[in-house]
Amino acid sequence: MTAVSEKDRVLIFDTTLRDGEQSPGATMTLDEKLQVADLLDEMGVDIIEAGFPIASNGDFEAVSLIAERIKNATVAGLARAAMGDIDRAGEAVKKARRPRIHTFISTSPVHMKYKLQKTPEQVLDMVIAQVTRARNHVADVEWSAEDGTRTEHDFLCRCVEAAIKAGATTINIPDTVGYSAPDEYRALFRMVRERVPNSDKAIFSVHCHNDLGMAVANTVAGIEGGARQVECTLNGIGERAGNAALEEIVMALKVRNDIFPFHTNVKSEMLMRASRLVSAVTSFPVQYNKAIVGRNAFAHESGIHQDGMLKNAQTYEIMTPESVGVSKTSLVMGKHSGRNAFKDKLKGLGYTLSDNQLEDAFVRFKDLADRKKHIYDEDIEALVDEKLANARDRMSVHSLLVVAGTIKEQMATLTLDIDGAHRTVQSTGNGPVDATFNAIKALAPHEATLELYQVHAVTAGTDAQAEVSVRLQADGRTFTGKGSDPDTLVASAKAYLSALNKLLAREERLHSQAAE
Ligand code: KIV
Ligand code: ZN
Repeated sequence: MTAVSEKDRVLIFDTTLRDGEQSPGATMTLDEKLQVADLLDEMGVDIIEAGFPIASNGDFEAVSLIAERIKNATVAGLARAAMGDIDRAGEAVKKARRPRIHTFISTSPVHMKYKLQKTPEQVLDMVIAQVTRARNHVADVEWSAEDGTRTEHDFLCRCVEAAIKAGATTINIPDTVGYSAPDEYRALFRMVRERVPNSDKAIFSVHCHNDLGMAVANTVAGIEGGARQVECTLNGIGERAGNAALEEIVMALKVRNDIFPFHTNVKSEMLMRASRLVSAVTSFPVQYNKAIVGRNAFAHESGIHQDGMLKNAQTYEIMTPESVGVSKTSLVMGKHSGRNAFKDKLKGLGYTLSDNQLEDAFVRFKDLADRKKHIYDEDIEALVDEKLANARDRMSVHSLLVVAGTIKEQMATLTLDIDGAHRTVQSTGNGPVDATFNAIKALAPHEATLELYQVHAVTAGTDAQAEVSVRLQADGRTFTGKGSDPDTLVASAKAYLSALNKLLAREERLHSQAAE
């Protein structure tokens, strides 16, 4: 094995909890954010951007609690170039073992003129003021030139030099709008590092959005240009088309180390587990053909490929499923499987549950096994993920009876458990799903509109569980929910309620903030 040098080490800066959470509908509860942060730390991420503390009291609380509990990683809070933002971020990260303030300002002509309505000279003064203020709170300050890839080179270099002089230890040049291409982005880093006299005093960072599908390619090019920190999110979630996907960057550097001689500290065997957790808590399904963590990423369908794989896996596999934590789909258990076997299976799938969570999952597993002959890994994942995502919900399905078929109007009789009390209603609709959703609306009146309704089967077979995704829209915000069950209508009701519970939780948060 060749020795790895620190100069080739790439720091992984995960922004799932900040830029990722900014994706419409990806809102996470405090508990969910803590779970994600703990997993990121265990996985070996170097910096966790935990949120934007000035954005809300909830964000501030999440960043503070994450700062307090994280053992290894640096914890960063984001701040605009405003003193109030920076002070709030400083306050939020102060209990971290390794606190960082990440402060940014736009430097491109279009952003300065229309968004900030400031001259370049005013912006330059703000760069110095923001970094200086952040340094009063912490020694580790990251400065970002928002819309850096559309910034004039001379001005970008002046800002970077000023930021480093004022005390910035990391300089990030984001491709905020996903506009750059690999050669251009690589050259940008080389140019800035060569032209800025004090560039050796800071670590350079890449931050790429995926609007043209080049976020990961640009990230790797940025590393070749001299960046040693990459900003990314699990499953690539983030604003618009998302951010560069952490799992893809980590595996690109690992699998093609012959041409990208860099390394990270991420334990790649945990990638699948991390991806699943983020998908579960955001209710964002992972695209089937997604690189590294998609359900089909290691599936071989064609006869020629299967034949090659049987002879030697290297014929069609450039990395092993185990290297990213994928366990092969297997027939696992049935209704006679015991608690210990179930516990073992969960461990193998990468779940660590508390005793209570385990007991609850086991009861639901037994219930499922009564209704479904063969239970696969995917069934167990759907069952556990759903509970993780909906642990604090106020409303859940108690029972549902639907009359469907060729009759004129379909009818649903639904009983919900709302804050511990059962309430029942009967509703009709144009189809069984419509009748079920009308029943939910009758029991929990709300103004949200249904933006998306999607069903897919968790495994093969007519007794497969249905996994339903629902997206609701209210006041310009989206809320997503997922539900699974062997009965598609029950899964639909669960998914709708999961999204609705998130909407209600947000309304409650806003009310309690207004009352403070
Ligand atoms: O995309 C971007 O420019 C950002 C900054 C705040 C770093 O997310
Ligand atoms: Zn971004």
